[in-house]
Parts: sequence; C-alpha cells; structure tokens
Amino acid sequence: MKSLEGKTAFVTGAASGIGLGIATSLAQAGVKVMLCDIQKDALDKAVADLRATNADVAGVLADVSLKDNLQHAADETIARFGKVHILVNNAGVGGGGDYGTWTEGGWNWVIGVNLMSVIWGIEIFGPLIEKHGEGGQIVSTASIAGMVALTNPAYDVTKFGVVALSEDLRPKLAPRGIGVSVLCPGVIRTNIVDSGRNIPARFAGQVPTAPTEGPGTEVLKAVTAAIASGIDPLYVGELVREAIEGDWPHIFTDLQFEPHIDARFATIKQGFDRIRERTPRH
Ligand SMILES: NC(=O)c1ccc[n+]([C@@H]2O[C@H](COP(=O)([O-])OP(=O)(O)OC[C@H]3O[C@@H](n4cnc5c(N)ncnc54)[C@H](O)[C@@H]3O)[C@@H](O)[C@H]2O)c1
Repeated sequence: MKSLEGKTAFVTGAASGIGLGIATSLAQAGVKVMLCDIQKDALDKAVADLRATNADVAGVLADVSLKDNLQHAADETIARFGKVHILVNNAGVGGGGDYGTWTEGGWNWVIGVNLMSVIWGIEIFGPLIEKHGEGGQIVSTASIAGMVALTNPAYDVTKFGVVALSEDLRPKLAPRGIGVSVLCPGVIRTNIVDSGRNIPARFAGQVPTAPTEGPGTEVLKAVTAAIASGIDPLYVGELVREAIEGDWPHIFTDLQFEPHIDARFATIKQGFDRIRERTPRH
C-alpha cells in the first residue's frame, strides 16, 4: 500500500506494547485506527492519548480468541469507519507452561490468543478488505520464536503457526489485492512478561503460574530484565508502517537472533546432506 493517508486499520492488542506502537505510528501517518483489546482501562487510556494528538481513532473491547467477539469488533469497525484496509493481528500472550508443568488450559489459552485469533481475524477481515477493491494489508505478529524455537512450547508452536499461515496466504491473497506480512520481533520493551493479567475468566486457575523456585526463576528474571531494556515498541510501529507501504513478507526488528536462525538452517541442511550421502543417486 503506497499511500496510507485516510485508510483504516484494525489493530488487536492495541492497548499496550507493540500493538500500541503500531496504532500510534499508523495514526501519525494519517490512518484511522480501531484499537481492539481485552483490557478496558488500558484501551480507554490508549484511545484518549491518541485522540489528544488529533488522531481519528476509536476503541473496541474484545477477547480475540473468541470468534464472535472478533466479528462484533469488525462490525463496530465498519459502523465507525465504513471500510477497513489494514488488519494487524497483534494480540498475544506468553506462558502456558513448559514440559512437566503445562496444562490443557494453558495450551488452549495461548493457542486461542496467539494463533486462533489470527485465523479468525483473517477469515473475518479478509472479505471486508476485498470488498472495497482499494487493496489492503494483513500484518500478523509472530515472533523471532516463530523462526527458531527458543522460548516455551505453546509460545513457539503458535508463533511458528503464525509464520506458516502468513507464508501460505501471501501468494493466495496477492491476486486479491491484499499483501500479507509477518512481524517477527526480537526483544521489545512491553508488558508481555505480565501476560497473566489478561487470562480470560474461562481459563481462571487452569494456566500454570510463573515459577517461584528452581532454574525457571533465573530464566524468568533474565527474560524480564531483557524485555525491560528491549527495543522501543514505537520503533517497531514505524517499521510496520514502512513494511505496509513496501509489502514486506517478513518484518524483523533487529539482528540479535540471526545466528540462531542460521544455526537452525545449518542443522536442517545437515539432515538433507545425511540423506544425500546415504542415497547417492540424489
Ligand atoms: N515483547 C516482545 O519482546 C515480543 C517479542 C516477539 C513477539 N511479541 C509479540 O508481540 C505481540 C504483542 O505483545 P507485547 O509484547 O506488546 O505485549 P503486551 O502485553 O504489552 O501487549 C499485548 C496486548 O494484547 C492484549 N491481549 C491479551 N490477550 C488478549 C485477548 N484475549 N484479546 C484481546 N487482546 C488481548 C493485552 O491486553 C495487551 O494490551 C504478541 O503477539 C507477542 O507475542 C512480543
């Protein structure tokens, strides 16, 4: 999308962190933004702060892991702005438990927010973008953990899923006038370590809590410290705006984890080489 001015975006998880950075950056570029989030106080504040800059924004409350909530949010977006051009599937949570501690509730929560919301988002908003014929863009927030598994099982699985879904749909939606990008941030200064603040009531008591003893506590401390000094989410928002204008397939935020991805590809290559050596006719 070469020109963003006057277009409309729907951004999930927009009340905090990366989502707020993206909403802010798009609003500054003259995009009308519907901010969507599960946390009312933070959403109200984000909308008020952006309106104070004369941005044309509104807010809608939704648990994006529930399809009917997302459908309602889409209806509200059309009612308020008439059209939608940009879908940013950004809401996401960390957690769910590691091997030995994971629970069914933990898996369902993380899969619902991080992956099913992206599937429902595309299913609901795709046809709305196609309908006006002006083209559009779908950006889904995965993670560098969608390129190399290095956090915890439910998070890594859902983020690989978002990358796969985006790569699958990119060539299929291009002829329909919709660009598809996947955002794979590194370590960004947000509230993600406190994801448990927004566990939907239906999962209450079913999601493993953060470790308070053992080696897990050290890992958590290190992650918390890294996030606290991570990249500014507003910078990520700027990158996303540029990526929408340029229809980038993959949006990375920095080079920190490139060697990990190179190492993963090298291991995969070794797997092919092993087979090449066993079966010389290849
Ligand atoms: N912070 C990082 O270092 C980092 C790195 C890679 C990827 N990400 C991804 O970035 C995205 C945004 O996370 P963040 O780091 O800005 O965290 P954050 O906690 O600051 O923001 C996440 C937002 O999503 C909202 N949310 C949570 N559950 C929801 C639900 N069920 N329905 C609607 N909204 C919901 C929260 O209320 C919050 O406003 C996530 O997909 C996350 O996995 C973050």
